[in-house]
Amino acid sequence: MGIRYWIYKKTGLKLRKNLGYSIQKTPSSSSINDVPPATIIVDNHLDNDHQSAYISPKSMVCPQVVIDNDCTVDDHSYIISGLVKNTKIGKYCSIATNVTIGADRHPTDWLSTHPFQYNDTDNFKPLKITTIGNDVWIGANVVIITGVSIGDGAIIGASSVVTRDIPPYAIVAGIPAKIIRYRFNENIINKLLKLKWWDSEYHFHHKNEIDFSNIEKAVEQIEMLKNKDKVV
Ligand SMILES: CC(C)(COP(=O)(O)OP(=O)(O)OC[C@H]1O[C@@H](n2cnc3c(N)ncnc32)[C@H](O)[C@@H]1OP(=O)(O)O)[C@@H](O)C(=O)NCCC(=O)NCCS
Repeated sequence: MGIRYWIYKKTGLKLRKNLGYSIQKTPSSSSINDVPPATIIVDNHLDNDHQSAYISPKSMVCPQVVIDNDCTVDDHSYIISGLVKNTKIGKYCSIATNVTIGADRHPTDWLSTHPFQYNDTDNFKPLKITTIGNDVWIGANVVIITGVSIGDGAIIGASSVVTRDIPPYAIVAGIPAKIIRYRFNENIINKLLKLKWWDSEYHFHHKNEIDFSNIEKAVEQIEMLKNKDKVV
């Protein structure tokens, strides 16, 4: 089975050479469980500033994910299945099945909404970057509209459609997604945003010293470990 047909079967996307797409395999994604690499599509219509994909070797992007140009997936994040385009994904994100993040917009006021109308000079391509922070949990079947920014620590409920920016540590759900509540109180959220635990490795190296299920204690313990290192 050819790769184009495989993508068509998995995603419904029909890729034809004369639409200017080429397909590359990621060199080294999916290290967490040694899963085969995801598929990366590079769109040849894009200029060099918008032609990159960085998948951290410490992330896991399953083969059922189509990564379309200009994406970053940072350390320890994983994505099970779906389409991700023009999106920067932070560290420690858990992204479930059948998600669509940063997908193309189509013209609503042209002759047709279909891409057949595009050419090199008159191309409908609003390349807004979608941003997913660190420690974001995205539930199954979520759609995140292009250009939206999801704050660190946010949770997106199953089958939500996110049309607006989401603040850090908010839990949102529904169509359009609305805030249900916050994961923690304001004081803890501010401490977490300052701590940025995802940028250090204390939680790995001192796993047995941190009470992860007690947020006040966990923040305090990581702060202490950090300060101890500063003193040494
Ligand atoms: C968003 C989520 C985390 C919220 O969990 P929670 O904080 O325990 O929220 P609750 O179950 O108490 O629900 C609070 C309210 O939000 C609503 N709600 C919860 N999840 C919702 C969703 N996905 N879509 C729409 N409404 C939702 C509930 O109906 C409830 O409404 P009510 O107050 O009018 O009764 C959870 O519902 C969810 O969607 N988890 C994702 C599951 C998933 O996709 N897993 C994939 C494998 S990783």
